[in-house]
Amino acid sequence: MPRLENIVIPGQGPMSLVDVSSALSRAVVTWEDLKWIRDLWKGPIVVKGVLIAEDAKRAVDEGVAAIVVSNHGGRQLDCVSPSLRALPEVVAAVNGRAEILMDGGVRRGSDVVKALCLGARAVLIGRAYAYGLAAAGQAGVARALEILRADVDRTMRLLGCSSVAALDATYLNRTREDW
Ligand SMILES: Cc1cc2nc3c(=O)[nH]c(=O)nc-3n(C[C@H](O)[C@H](O)[C@H](O)COP(=O)(O)O)c2cc1C
Repeated sequence: MPRLENIVIPGQGPMSLVDVSSALSRAVVTWEDLKWIRDLWKGPIVVKGVLIAEDAKRAVDEGVAAIVVSNHGGRQLDCVSPSLRALPEVVAAVNGRAEILMDGGVRRGSDVVKALCLGARAVLIGRAYAYGLAAAGQAGVARALEILRADVDRTMRLLGCSSVAALDATYLNRTREDW
C-alpha cells in the first residue's frame, strides 16, 4: 500500500494512502496553526489559497514571506473567485509587504503575462505540466514548459514590451464588466 512520505505520523512513520481521506475530513486549518508553524520554522513561509484582502493582510501580519493567490485549481469549494479575479485585491492589500504568486487555470503564456500585469511576481502551474507528464513523461514536462516559455516570449513581443518587469495593468484590455 503506497504511503505519503512527506506526512509522517509521530511514532508510526509515513501516512498510508488509505488513511488520507479520513484524515482530511477531520482537518481544519486555522490561524493558530500558522502561528504554531511560524514559531517552529524560522525560514520563509509561503501561504497558499488566499483569495481576499483580509486574509492576505492577516497572513502578512503573521509573518509570511509570500502568498499564493489560489483557489486550488477550482477543485475545492465551488463558486469561489477565480484566482486571476482575486489577484488585484490581494496585491493592493499586501502593498509590497510580501511576494504575491498565483495559480489556477494557467494554460498558456498569455495567462502568465496577464497575471504579471495584475501584480503577481510569478505563477505556479498544476495541471499544465501534468498533462505533459501523462503524455510523454519527463520529456513531456520539459515540452510543456518550453511551450509556456515560448508563448510568454511571443506575447511579450506582440505587446511590444521588452521586459516582464515593465508589465502592468495598462497592458490589459479590460472592460468595467470584467472586474
Ligand atoms: C490532482 C490534483 C491534486 C491537488 N492536490 C492539492 C492539495 O493536496 N493541496 C493543495 O493545496 N492543492 C492541491 N491541488 C491544487 C494545485 O496545488 C494547484 O493549486 C492547482 O492545480 C493550480 O491550478 P491548475 O491545475 O489550473 O494550474 C491539486 C491539484 C490537482 C490537479
